This record gives sequence, structure tokens and C-alpha cells, in this order.
Amino acid sequence: MREQLEQIKAQALDALEGCGDAKALDALRVRYLGKKGELTAILKQMGKLSPEERPVIGQKANEVREALEAALAARQEALKGSALASRLQEEALDVTMPGKTVTEGGLHPLSIVLDDMIDIFQSMGFDILDGPEVETDYYCFEALNVPKDHPARDMQDTFYLGENLVLRTQTSAAQIRVMENRKPPIRIICPGRVYRADEVDATHSPVFHQVEGLVVDKNITLCDLKGCLEQFAHEIYGPETKIRFRPSFFPFTEPSVEVDVSCTACGGKGCRVCKGAGWIEILGAGMVHPNVLRLCGIDPEVYSGFAFGIGLDRLTTTRYKISDIRLLFENDMRFLTQFK
Ligand code: DAH
Repeated sequence: MREQLEQIKAQALDALEGCGDAKALDALRVRYLGKKGELTAILKQMGKLSPEERPVIGQKANEVREALEAALAARQEALKGSALASRLQEEALDVTMPGKTVTEGGLHPLSIVLDDMIDIFQSMGFDILDGPEVETDYYCFEALNVPKDHPARDMQDTFYLGENLVLRTQTSAAQIRVMENRKPPIRIICPGRVYRADEVDATHSPVFHQVEGLVVDKNITLCDLKGCLEQFAHEIYGPETKIRFRPSFFPFTEPSVEVDVSCTACGGKGCRVCKGAGWIEILGAGMVHPNVLRLCGIDPEVYSGFAFGIGLDRLTTTRYKISDIRLLFENDMRFLTQFK
């Protein structure tokens, strides 16, 4: 029996030594120290021993059990340690590695300037409206006092989508929709894209942007128009900015004016940006033509109004001193990221 114990001890220690994972280790524990294990089996036979032998073998058996338990515990510790070590290695983070840069977006310069315009007009009590880009001939021309045979149609090269359907050439079309649906007092702006069959160059694009403005109420005069636009110019370009009205013609306003601001680059002395003029044209405007009011069911004897159409692209290029309008449409990141 003594030899049997020695044998079990040697075998078990050997097996424990070579054991590489926790599952196998537990199997060994069951095999040697479990209720039905090899060591237990021997202890169960102790009854057959003589009374002299019993304590000697008993002591030996205890020794073997203690040795195995100690070896088992030691092996368990070692495995735990190496599991931790390999996990640490697998999941190691190199905190010195360069991180993935998250590129932050920014607003397009047109959006920045439009947001500013919206703020300015909103603070003057204007509502912000939207209108369709595909318009009928009626809203884009007829109702704006431009009949089919009117020579003013030649002022704008129109994309026709059908006999009576166009890509709007001007946000002025929105004026009619507003006056059809609202009763005075009316105070709105309508920003949006407009289209003209123009050749692309540094100052022309077949798609560009306008912000239409319309005010209709009792006793609205050209002075109100000037005050409103002067306030706008001061807020967008700075309080030193001057504006001037030049007589002009639009079929849907009478009188009509073109509005210039003192050059933002030279302050009015004359430079490359303003082509020596000292002034930059930014919009067309005027007093809403009585024919237009009447057609929308507003009595021109009672009400009057002013309207204006601001070129958003022009406003943006002058504000940021951008020399080529194409930059606004090309989506070149080197250009766009400068406006963050
Ligand atoms: N629609 C004109 C254009 O595209 C600009 C304009 C002029 C708008 C006078 C107006 C206005 O509302 O009253 O050239």
C-alpha cells in the first residue's frame, strides 16, 4: 500500500506539472482527490490493515494528500497568472499610437451668410418662407407683370421644362404665392436656388441663390425700403457701409432701383474688387407694381409694398473676398475648410 501511495503521488505530481489549463487541472483533482478518486480508493481499504500498520499508512496517505493539494493549488495560481499575462498581452493598448482623427464638419460659406441674413431679417420681424424651384410660367413671369411677349423676358435666360414649366429664374415668384395666401401686413423673406442658362465663368453660374424680400402694408414707401436695406447693409458689412439707389427697371416694381453698397475692400476709394467704382451692386428692388398687387387681390389704393432680391452668392464673395464664384460650387475641401 505504501508503494501504491508513492506511485499515485509521483504520477499525480507529474501530471500536475504538465497540466496547461484550468479544465484539465480540475479533471486531475477529481481523478486523484475526488470522492471516487484514486487516493480516496486507497484510504477506503485502510480497514483491512493491521492496527500497527494503520497509523503509519494513514500518516503517509495524509502526507500524499497534502502534497497533492499543495501542488494543485500552486499549479492553479501559476495558470491564473499566465492567463492574466496572456490576456494583458492580447489586449495591450499602445497609447503612443496616433489616434484616428475625427474630421469635424463646418458650414458652407453660403450657409454662413444666409444664416446671418436670416438673423438680421428675423430681428426686423420678417418671416422666412420657402418656394418651389420648379415653377409655372405664371408665377415666375406672368403674375410678375411679364407677359409672354414682353421684351423683359430676354433679361433672363430661362431653362424651360415644358411649355408652362420653368426652373425659376428668380425667387420673385415666391412673392405671388405669398400674396395669394396671406393678407397684409406681409413681411417675408424667401431664400433659395435660382437657375439661368448662363455660361459658367468667374461671375456666372447656371445655379445661384437669391433672397427675396417682400413687405406689404398700409403707407409703405420707398423710404421704408431704403431704411430697411441700410439697416441690413450695416449689420452684414459693418456700420460704416453706405448704400445708394440707382434708378432701374423691373417689370414688377415701380419705381425700380438697383442698390449698391460702398466697396467692402476699399471702403469706396476704388479698387480691383469694385473695378474702380467704389461701389458694389448687391440687389434689385422697388415698390411693388400696382398690377402685381391687384392680380393677387390686394387693393393698391389701400396698400403699398416694397420688394427686393438679394444675390446671396455676390454677398458671400464680397464678404469673404472670394474672386471666383465657381469656388462656391466645386466642393473643394481646401477651400471649404477655411470657413470653419
Ligand atoms: N428678381 C430680380 C432679378 O432676379 C431681382 C429683384 C428686383 C427682385 C426687384 C425684386 C425686386 O423683388 O423688387 O434680377
